[in-house]
Amino acid sequence: MAGNSTYVPATGFTRWLDKRLPILRLTHDTVSTFPTPRNLNIWYTFGGILTFCLGVQIVTGVVLAMHYVASADLAFNSVEGGIMREVNYGWLIRILHANGASMFFLAVYIHMFRGVYYGSYKEPREMIWILGVLIYLLMMATAFFGYVLPWGQMSFWGATVITSLFSALDQVIPHLGTAITTWLWGDFAVGDATLNRFFSLHYLLPFAIAAVVGLHIWALHIPGNNNPLGIDVKGPQDTVPFHPYYTAKDAFYLALFMILFAAFVFYAPDFFGNPDNSIQANPLVTPTDIVPEWYLLPYYAMLRSVPQKLIGVLVLLGSLVTLFLIPWLDSSKVRSCRFRPLMKQCFWVFALDCVLLGYVGSQSADAVLNLGGMQLPLVWLARAGTAYYFAYFWVLMPLVGRIERTKALPESIAKSVLGTAGERI
Ligand code: HEM
Repeated sequence: MAGNSTYVPATGFTRWLDKRLPILRLTHDTVSTFPTPRNLNIWYTFGGILTFCLGVQIVTGVVLAMHYVASADLAFNSVEGGIMREVNYGWLIRILHANGASMFFLAVYIHMFRGVYYGSYKEPREMIWILGVLIYLLMMATAFFGYVLPWGQMSFWGATVITSLFSALDQVIPHLGTAITTWLWGDFAVGDATLNRFFSLHYLLPFAIAAVVGLHIWALHIPGNNNPLGIDVKGPQDTVPFHPYYTAKDAFYLALFMILFAAFVFYAPDFFGNPDNSIQANPLVTPTDIVPEWYLLPYYAMLRSVPQKLIGVLVLLGSLVTLFLIPWLDSSKVRSCRFRPLMKQCFWVFALDCVLLGYVGSQSADAVLNLGGMQLPLVWLARAGTAYYFAYFWVLMPLVGRIERTKALPESIAKSVLGTAGERI
């Protein structure tokens, strides 16, 4: 789909540059004229929105790092005192960065669910998906390291809980897990050394994400976009040039996204935050409930659904590794759920399941739900939710593709969008 280059340098300078570094030709071919299916909907604007989010996090993060002090004694005050109260507009930069992380995850979840619904991970787009999952894992690691930096109670205890997961390896080889955990901490508890290395990694990883995003978009430009119908582009009548059609559409939805982002930043800056993180880290006082940020809650629920620590860690790892395998687990020849009545229902149950797991992850481990007199321990919901999570990928994806009767696919994108007028172009 990449086609031949149609770039014609217009000035003496661009002709000179084109022979030495054809960067304008690359931009022209991959952005301006790139043939893009004419039926992409709102859910396809999130790739651009994600690129914006990454940019915001890097720019605000670099400025925050100019004022942040990575020391167990000074970190909390450098954020709550210095950045929030003394640095010019420091409060704005920090709130943009903290809420930006939530907006980034909101966008990435929409982007991923879109990919699953329209079967965008299917051949020939497996590599786009795999690189996407890699980006997602890097995002989770970056967010985890970043959350430790303000050195509040939840920063400290979150870091302690997650790094201690490695100690489960003691059950495989005695002392191995403890040795690894101590090595990760750089001390015998989460402390100054841990904070310093987490700061270093938190600064590094976004650039690794940017590099993988480059590969992700490169891989996307080989087969070109999938689309809501999930059928292949059959000719020029099915596509429009990326610019101005999708630059305009992406810009419009980006503007709406920025309004939502600004609403949180200016009217509810603490909406996503945990009040315990406004208290300085205290290794002697454990908070009643240690909860991660909302975007990690479903995994936290899966981890806690198993009483045995090692198995809980394996379930957590399994839930992430599974994501890499989706292109090979789904047996359907039809990509888009629009034409897969049974899989569409399984998909929506899966989406609800993730919300349910998120809710359970936000509650105390021993919480009980009172359903009109019936006591339902939440851990049972977590178990049912975890079972469906795995069943969706390992049972339903391979099975439903083999047994369901799919709806008839449209002849072409042009015909589906333009009706009979599509036949004339
Ligand atoms: C920083 C994070 C990311 C950025 C900047 C990014 C960027 C993009 C862009 C610009 C596109 C093309 C426009 C669109 O389809 O929306 C795209 C497509 C795609 N992305 Fe991402 N992405 C990111 C994360 C992810 C993740 C985490 C996954 C999945 C795990 C993923 C899977 C895909 C797939 C499958 C497509 C092809 C969609 C299709 O053609 O139907 N991406 N991405």
